[in-house]
Amino acid sequence: MKLTQEQLDQFDRDGYLFFPSHFSPEEIKTLTDEVPNLYAQDRAENIREKGKTAVRTNFAAHMYSDPFARLARHPRMVKPVEQLFDEKLYMHQFKVNGKMAFDGDIWQWHQDYGTWLNDDQMPEARAMNVAIFLDEVNEFNGPLMFIPGSHKMGALEAGHDTSTTSYPLWTISNDNIRTLVDQGGIVAPKGPAGSMLLFHGCLVHGSAPNLSPWNRVTVYLSLCAVSNHIRRFKRAGYIAHRDFTPIECLPDDCLVKSYPVDLPWKDGTPVSEQHGMPDGMAA
Ligand code: SIN
Ligand code: MN
Repeated sequence: MKLTQEQLDQFDRDGYLFFPSHFSPEEIKTLTDEVPNLYAQDRAENIREKGKTAVRTNFAAHMYSDPFARLARHPRMVKPVEQLFDEKLYMHQFKVNGKMAFDGDIWQWHQDYGTWLNDDQMPEARAMNVAIFLDEVNEFNGPLMFIPGSHKMGALEAGHDTSTTSYPLWTISNDNIRTLVDQGGIVAPKGPAGSMLLFHGCLVHGSAPNLSPWNRVTVYLSLCAVSNHIRRFKRAGYIAHRDFTPIECLPDDCLVKSYPVDLPWKDGTPVSEQHGMPDGMAA
């Protein structure tokens, strides 16, 4: 799959691209069948919503779950990002966000590059976010919202919010959001399960709580250009990966046919990946 010049121009202008029904229902079923098993596991990678048992986000499933390990190597996702950066990629972060019916909490307005810079010392915003809808996303179940064009602002000033939700985030002030929305407005791409979004690391985004009776499970992963690897290992390895090996894609049918993949954390996450390291320990 190759992005057209029109798509490249659109990405440059808006900071995101939307591909409705990019994966088939059969391909998505391979993943959704695995989610209850993932969320039931008692491991540090499952971050629960504040005061609840519902999973907010599950980290690093591609290291211990066969279907997600295959998704992590899917050419329909990896190739467009390789094209945009003109470089091989490694997996910086891999999340399966629940945003579960009734319990799914807010994601405050933020840029991912704010965290990658402040926490991980990633040199440039040469990492791309990919979102793959495992459930339909509609106007009621907390769709992801973007401020188009906000990626042009580069890394904005951010405050470390450690109290609003169960997951600390570098967030942007309401005053700055008001100004950015005056300029770019807000969009919330909606569509069937199997739809995919690519969005720039500096694109400002967030989502409201899910008050609906419908889950909004979405895979979010961040593909980083290998030369732009993080320089600091302040966060646990299962949140910000430290293995910069370039991703080698599997064939296009890898979600409907089985291909052998490594599952190095199948029997547990190595102790060395469970915690951050003091500054200066990064490779
Ligand atoms: C994220 O920004 O990482 C997640 C946002 C969401 O799940 O709505
Ligand atoms: Mn984000």
